[in-house]
Amino acid sequence: MLDSRLEELRRATLAAFASASSGQDLEAARVEALGRKGTLAQISKEFGKLAPEERARFGKLLNSVKQDLESEYEKKNRWFEEAQLAERLANEWIDVTLPAPGVRPGSLHPITQLQDEIEDLFTSLGFAVLDGPEVETEEHNFDALNIPPTHPARDMQDTFWLSNGHLLRTHTSPVQVRGMRKLGPPLRMIAPGRVFRNEEVDASHEHTFYQLEGMMIDRDVSVANLIYFMKTLLSSIFKRDVTVRLRPGYFPFVEPGFELDIQCLICSGAGCPVCKQSGWVELLPCGLVHPNVLRMSGIDPDEWGGFAFGLGLTRLAMMRYGIDDIRQLQSGDLRFLNQF
Ligand code: DAH
Repeated sequence: MLDSRLEELRRATLAAFASASSGQDLEAARVEALGRKGTLAQISKEFGKLAPEERARFGKLLNSVKQDLESEYEKKNRWFEEAQLAERLANEWIDVTLPAPGVRPGSLHPITQLQDEIEDLFTSLGFAVLDGPEVETEEHNFDALNIPPTHPARDMQDTFWLSNGHLLRTHTSPVQVRGMRKLGPPLRMIAPGRVFRNEEVDASHEHTFYQLEGMMIDRDVSVANLIYFMKTLLSSIFKRDVTVRLRPGYFPFVEPGFELDIQCLICSGAGCPVCKQSGWVELLPCGLVHPNVLRMSGIDPDEWGGFAFGLGLTRLAMMRYGIDDIRQLQSGDLRFLNQF
């Protein structure tokens, strides 16, 4: 009776070992047969019930079954280990005699690429590219742009003030002031650069971002000139004809001031999630330069006039490349940057 249970254990376990398709299968079969609470252990417990003359014979059989199973287990286990090692070697094999891949060449940041393109366009139209300081005076950033200390527009921008009374520029518009004072009229200038606002950072707000300011001052500059330059700019950026519209917008340094919208490039005006079903996307604030602004920089508004615009370079880069989180732009993450 016990003999046949042993024989059955041997047969069943050898079969389980043979059909095991992984090291785990094999181990499970071993535990079931040979583990501390396994079948063999249970059968051994019955040893005491045997007649004394039976015990020697049964003991031998028990040992032989145990040894058979153990040695079969060892054999198969070694086989799994070798197969696993062979697989790792095949997968992780490298040819150390191959030449090294070398240094990965860098690439231009998407904002830089866009900025370069716009600079090329405007230089071809006779505009100078100006640079201004990131640490600005209150006068350049606010007063000279017709934003006096008491003006509510100062609340529109959350400013990083420095302890010496200066500030981190909140827009590129102070470069207009520097351009007018340094070069005088007639003037065609753009000023790309970094600007700073004390913002709560999230997927669409950053404390540091990029704008591109533009200004043209001449005799007889009208809204028609403004529209022409803006359409030329946007058609060149989006590489197709764009339809624009102007809505009134308020900025103290322009009068009249506008929000320029483009017809949605995704749905061509039909309405879609990108344009929130309106058919239009707000893109660029602009306007005719306020006489006070001209006057404060020494230009006679009776003789000269002009337009100005403030392009959100960061936002435009996000639109163009389909970037949905502004924080990626300054992350320095190569997985992001490698795509451009
Ligand atoms: N400086 C404005 C801002 O950052 C943007 C702006 C609006 C610039 C109208 C302009 C302009 O030159 O005409 O919010």
